Amino acid sequence: MCGICGAVGIRQAAPVVFEGLRRLEYRGYDSAGIATLVDGSVERRRASGKLDNLHALLENSPLTGTTGIGHTRWATHGAPTTCNAHPHGTSRVAIVHNGIIENFETLRRELENVGQVFETETDSETIALLVDYHLQQGLPPKDAALQALRRLEGAYAVAMIFAGHDGLIIGACHNAPLAVGFGEQEMFLGSDSLALAPLTQSIAYMNNGDCVLLSAQGADFMTFDGTPVERTVQRTTLTAGAIGKDGYRHYMEKELHEHPLVIGQTLQRMIDPATRRVVLPELPFDLATVPRAVMTACGSAFYAAMVGRYWLEEVARLPVDIDVASEMRYRNPPLTPGSLGLLISQSGETADTLAALRALREKSVHILSVLNVEHSSMARESDVVLGTVAGPEISVASTKAFTAQLTVLACLAIATARSRGVLDPLKEEELVSALLDLPSRTAEIFKQGEAIRNMAKIVAEARDVLYLGRGSLFPIAMEGALKLKEISYIHAEAYAAGEMKHGPISLIDRSVPIVATLPSTALFDKTLSNLQEAKARGGRLLIFTDTEGAERVSKIAEQSVVLPHVHDFVSPILQAIPVQMLAYEVAVLKGTDVDQPRNLAKSVTVE
Ligand code: F6R
Repeated sequence: MCGICGAVGIRQAAPVVFEGLRRLEYRGYDSAGIATLVDGSVERRRASGKLDNLHALLENSPLTGTTGIGHTRWATHGAPTTCNAHPHGTSRVAIVHNGIIENFETLRRELENVGQVFETETDSETIALLVDYHLQQGLPPKDAALQALRRLEGAYAVAMIFAGHDGLIIGACHNAPLAVGFGEQEMFLGSDSLALAPLTQSIAYMNNGDCVLLSAQGADFMTFDGTPVERTVQRTTLTAGAIGKDGYRHYMEKELHEHPLVIGQTLQRMIDPATRRVVLPELPFDLATVPRAVMTACGSAFYAAMVGRYWLEEVARLPVDIDVASEMRYRNPPLTPGSLGLLISQSGETADTLAALRALREKSVHILSVLNVEHSSMARESDVVLGTVAGPEISVASTKAFTAQLTVLACLAIATARSRGVLDPLKEEELVSALLDLPSRTAEIFKQGEAIRNMAKIVAEARDVLYLGRGSLFPIAMEGALKLKEISYIHAEAYAAGEMKHGPISLIDRSVPIVATLPSTALFDKTLSNLQEAKARGGRLLIFTDTEGAERVSKIAEQSVVLPHVHDFVSPILQAIPVQMLAYEVAVLKGTDVDQPRNLAKSVTVE
């Protein structure tokens, strides 16, 4: 959600910053801009819309200079216009900002009272004019920046450059991520290590409340009161190759095809191949005695949590409370201290999930997070992190991170069940085998591309679509509906199949296709009956089934996709992939912007 990037050194900064913004565009694409120092003066280029517009502007009106900062925006305060695009600034300073300044109205009033003139509707401009005010009072850049930073409330990562101070970038962050990249005679700043991947593999992650002064020679870290601090430089394994499209049309297509690999890698981390047992890192609490779990997340990650609840309750007999993080954070649920807080997030930066984590922490709950981004805010604030090994997920719509989350949660359920003494070794062996079978089974799904594309033709014509599933497959129906909405802009709703007759069945006619996940699990017959009820009322059934359910499904389905049969336990993991593929194929048919759907951004760092 907004990406920021900076470069200072010996080469021209604007092209380096622009390429960094390309890698950050998934975080927001409402507008973009770059500022550099040209002969000591601040020069800015900004454009509304996607980065291509900024590119065209820079072609006509290039920016020189070896000190530069840039921004790609997901609009919060103020419309996505050129005027509201970052960098904001004056003749003395330019800033880029990711996050929200919560006290911006107070600061804005104060600054207006001392004669500062605002040009935009954004909260971010307040930072620029506050720093500018202190510069006008005669403070040097470092002191002006620190003075300003001490007044800011909210979440922010910010980068600044100053007229007359070539070779200096000041960065700072509080509750928003910022990474510093170390090059040869050049230094970089980025919202994440992806932005910096082709530039350097030596990275220091900033802590909350860190400020950094960057020059070509290196970085000086300090707290907002100016006390020097050390930050460790780490080697990242991310390379430019990991963030390419590899010949696929879209990142989403590439990431869909990575499912088998990602599930395999995640299992490798969770299961000891010698003993075929799930192995967790050392935990600072005992899974055997946690009285209950409380699970929370947003969007797709929440649906992963919903499946996780089925597993933890069914396999580990652990009671689970679950809610979306935006509700959980304000719900104040009564919790026994020592309960287990389970947070799930791809980015580890989602503001609501992070806030829910903190709310749970206040109730003396142990915090275990399932995260894809290792060096994220949530990782820093958790007692234990179970990593999904999905690699960078660039497409805004989550795909492979979702199945990796499911894989980790399935393993966690097994480990929890074992520690609680409710899983006999034979059953554990059966469940682990089912998981280990998944990489090859999921690879077979791609043979069904043609069938999924045929289904997509029907869905693409619809205005509304219903998704149905039962048990642990109900959240998969929800995942399918969400994915369809977000990338194809077709209205879709998911229902627990048994709920149809309590209302939604009245929606059914030929114009509302019904997509169902119906592999041959224990709930097959029940769901099949619900689908028959829908068919009897003229419903068009598009069904994802498996080799064992195929024959019976073929009798009622207008179209079906036959997937490999797997153990009931892992069925939601396998079934997630074709519903995501269906949404992708529909979006392609509709010609939408698959990787960067309108109004969205990856990593939602605002409430
Ligand atoms: C949907 C999607 C979102 C995210 C949600 C949580 O395709 O990607 O619903 O799942 O914004 O994001 P993370 O997992 O980063 O916390």
